[in-house]
Amino acid sequence: MEKKIKRIGVLTSGGDAPGMNAVIRAVARTAFRNGVEVKGILRGYAGLLNEEFIDLTTDSVKNIVERGGTVLYTARCLEFMTEAGQKRGAEICRKHGIDGIVVAGGDGSFKGALALSRQGINTIGVPCTIDLDIACTDYTIGFDTAVNTAMEAIDKIRDTSESHERCSIIEVMGRSAGYIALWCGIASGAEEILVPENYDGDEQAIVNRITEQRLKGKTHFIIVNAEGVGHSASMARRIEAATGIETRATIVGYMQRGGSPTARDRVEASVMGQMASQLLINGESNKLVVWKNGKYGSVGIEEALKEHKDLPDDLLIIPGTMKR
Ligand code: ADP
Ligand code: F6P
Repeated sequence: MEKKIKRIGVLTSGGDAPGMNAVIRAVARTAFRNGVEVKGILRGYAGLLNEEFIDLTTDSVKNIVERGGTVLYTARCLEFMTEAGQKRGAEICRKHGIDGIVVAGGDGSFKGALALSRQGINTIGVPCTIDLDIACTDYTIGFDTAVNTAMEAIDKIRDTSESHERCSIIEVMGRSAGYIALWCGIASGAEEILVPENYDGDEQAIVNRITEQRLKGKTHFIIVNAEGVGHSASMARRIEAATGIETRATIVGYMQRGGSPTARDRVEASVMGQMASQLLINGESNKLVVWKNGKYGSVGIEEALKEHKDLPDDLLIIPGTMKR
């Protein structure tokens, strides 16, 4: 007979993402409804190894759905990447009567979850990253908030770029993926979007397009550059030298990781958090909750980590992103 789940843990790991608090709340409330206790594990796997646990209660998870960041803190932990660390993590769970853990994080955190499940502790992952770079799911919590933050930053930069008749290069996050750049670039009507998946390094082509448009009377230009392409400051110097148009670079940076989550992120986090908690309570393990092809579901972590995803062709509509 299946072992009855009495106590679960929840942790947030890797880069934080707006909506993680809504995940924590949904995991806890679903567990409470099922008569299951919840330990909040502070500072990701580092906190697990340091036995930094707090008891979550209905009260302690109230008024957090609207807050950015993570009330459980997040961390990166090298020790957990070793088998000895993973074994110790599982022993600590057994010592504290933790039957399973919901892990909110990205690819790296799910490798940790997979390792923990191999040590006999049930784990379910919830995809949380502003980068949208987890292949098995079409949505990751935090992306919508980050894109809207980046879009608002670009709108503001456009005002001054237009007044000064300048070219502006705006660098947005995404690690080695171009999703944030692509979305906020399209949403803000950028002239160029440079994404690591497609950018061929042909700066001369960008210079030619800008020069051509200047001759037709266009006064200002917005180039959205993904951090995976990078080098925005030196790119700005080269474009200014080649076009004669004053060019400035702005790195939007960590602003994209914070802030109150958008409605989409709160809803996705509430649904996925609830599903993750329920899966764990049902005795499932080693799975990720996903949004795929218009449906919520779950997939095995091992298979999920092997998947690879490309930017959707339909979105590659702006110079710099187009497949040449
Ligand atoms: P993200 O989850 O956002 O991708 P990281 O890649 O930094 O972030 O991973 C977060 C944490 O997950 C790491 O600090 C480490 O504790 C754990 N982790 C990452 N990779 C592995 C791995 N291969 N095996 C076990 N744990 C891992
Ligand atoms: O994965 C989220 C992210 O913000 C990436 O876009 C960025 O490359 C990275 O994390 C920055 O990580 P750190 O917080 O370690 O500087």
